[in-house]
Amino acid sequence: MILMSVSELAGKGFEGIEKRIIECTACTLHETVTNKVISKGSKTPKVVFVGEAPGKNEDETGIPFCGRAGKNLDRMIDYMGLSKNEYTVINTIKCRPPNNRNPLKKEINACRPFMLAQIQILDPRVIILLGNTAEKAFCSKDKLEWGIPKTIDNRYSLLKLYHPAALIYQRSRIDEQNEHIDRNRHLWDMNE
Ligand code: URA
Repeated sequence: MILMSVSELAGKGFEGIEKRIIECTACTLHETVTNKVISKGSKTPKVVFVGEAPGKNEDETGIPFCGRAGKNLDRMIDYMGLSKNEYTVINTIKCRPPNNRNPLKKEINACRPFMLAQIQILDPRVIILLGNTAEKAFCSKDKLEWGIPKTIDNRYSLLKLYHPAALIYQRSRIDEQNEHIDRNRHLWDMNE
């Protein structure tokens, strides 16, 4: 298979990227999936959320965050006050790892150009990395603190928040997450 650079991929537009994700055989995960899971949400978002990997429900439907973790993500988005046209949800890798195991480094590396091209073309103001896998894939050298934003190239902000699955049954984490959100509202609330 021919590997393309991030800007070449981004130059193909949404449909071009989608086609290449569907055709991708760069790692073995494609052999066991039902559906590749590409994105949901706006084509011109203020905020892009980057999750980890599709789970069982996502694999069955092809829709990111449509299961239990997705309910928590919806609550988080509600708390942030974002409307439907203001955000997009993608994952670090597009194929479900067997038995929901953690994605391997080589799988993350194979899929990274798709994630970066999606972000390049969506051109959000804020990129929210949901958990450590998304962080590792997006900025492996520069570790972020939970809830502390970093401005990149004077263009957009990067913010690492807890993955919604880590909030299931954890009241104290939900409170902490809400504090992170409250401290950072200015990132997505400012006027155009
Ligand atoms: N967890 C993720 O990281 N992504 C999904 O799409 C679902 C669960």
